[in-house]
Amino acid sequence: MQSVLIVGGGGREHAIIAVLAKSPRVRQLHAAPGNGGIAELAQCRNVAATDVAGVVALAKSLEVDWVFVAPDDPLVLGMVDALEAEGFKTFGPRKNAAILEGSKAFSKAFMARNNIPSADYAEFTDCDKAVAYIQARNSYPAVIKYDGLALGKGVIIAQDEAEAIAAIRAMLVENKFGDAGIIIEEFLQGQEVTVLAFTDGKTVVPMPPSTDHKRAFDGDTGPNTGGMGVVAGGAALPYWSGQIADECMKRIFEPTVKAMAEEGRAFKGCLYFGLMLTEQGVKVIEYNCRFGDPEAQAILPLLETDLFAIMEAIEQERLAELDIRFSNKASACVVMASGGYPEKYTTGYEISGLKKTEGVFHAGTKLDDSGKPVTSGGRVLAVTAVAEDLPTALARAYEGVECISFKDAHYRRDIGRAALCQECCDNRV
Ligand code: AMP
Ligand code: GLY
Repeated sequence: MQSVLIVGGGGREHAIIAVLAKSPRVRQLHAAPGNGGIAELAQCRNVAATDVAGVVALAKSLEVDWVFVAPDDPLVLGMVDALEAEGFKTFGPRKNAAILEGSKAFSKAFMARNNIPSADYAEFTDCDKAVAYIQARNSYPAVIKYDGLALGKGVIIAQDEAEAIAAIRAMLVENKFGDAGIIIEEFLQGQEVTVLAFTDGKTVVPMPPSTDHKRAFDGDTGPNTGGMGVVAGGAALPYWSGQIADECMKRIFEPTVKAMAEEGRAFKGCLYFGLMLTEQGVKVIEYNCRFGDPEAQAILPLLETDLFAIMEAIEQERLAELDIRFSNKASACVVMASGGYPEKYTTGYEISGLKKTEGVFHAGTKLDDSGKPVTSGGRVLAVTAVAEDLPTALARAYEGVECISFKDAHYRRDIGRAALCQECCDNRV
């Protein structure tokens, strides 16, 4: 029996811990730092997810067997390397593979040299050169991306020259996200799909596809967030097909894993493919080096194979021997956020109705001094339901949301609507 420390404290980590808690192989779960919901399943330890030395020291003092590093920042900082050096078994890529997410300049050049389809791009560190390029190019919308981690906020879709120049200046002159450079790339049109995949650096096993809803408000309006809701399941997404899955496998998933290994950066863990289904075929928008949040909350409830067995197979590089199964059902996840998120919001509000609801993953919650759950972050809860079809999964997730309340709670009312609409259109023709 194994003890596992999970690094992170959001809804994604709660979903990971919920499936690991069911594993017959796992005896004890710890989380750093965890949250109010995770506290029901794991011992929460007050160490920040980005504190590499602190997590290594914690793993040693707890004498855990395994450390599962879930968020992007510690992976990009090399937490897995530091833990491996101390003899711990880990889930998550090393620093030299996490760079696929850590640097857009790296990932764009990697795709270009390995013929992996993606938007055309150019890279800049100099503001005047970037502005001259955007003016000469004169094609909008233009996509401007900060070349580093930026909490999902480092991408600006500029509708005209003024917006583009403001974004370039904010990133290269005002250093809004840090002192890295930028990428300017072609705007891709189509349906966005995320595919997460397990990989041991040799074999790649895609999970069911999903679609996140990144904008804060209904109708895909408002600022970008970490994600306000997800629909998932191969049969549930009308824009997905076996043919698209095959194309992704041949042109994107396998070439990515193979090329990373050939470049001495074997990727072990969960690789996130952010994809656009364009008229010219599937193209990669971005790679992430981890489970998505809230994608994990929608997809992990569909996993039928023991997650611990998968972690072990990846660590031992024998993923090819494992038969990984997912249910064929549909899954829907609705995020309840603090009013004002992703900008200013207030925390510390009491959350009621949690006991009446199934499938709730905690993101920004903590227990107050009297042990009651209160809000403690922007995204507060991810309410998930799995059902035979998408309309039922969505209806159940929203029923769950209706049971829960906290002051100024905000959630989108249209999660999955695009998928449902397309489904009814397709049925009509
Ligand atoms: P990223 O952080 O690279 O995933 O970008 C955040 C979001 O911006 C994506 O989920 C897309 O909705 C959008 N986006 C990024 N790059 C492009 C692109 N080249 N064309 C169209 N939309 C994009
Ligand atoms: N939901 C988007 C992400 O995890 O990056």
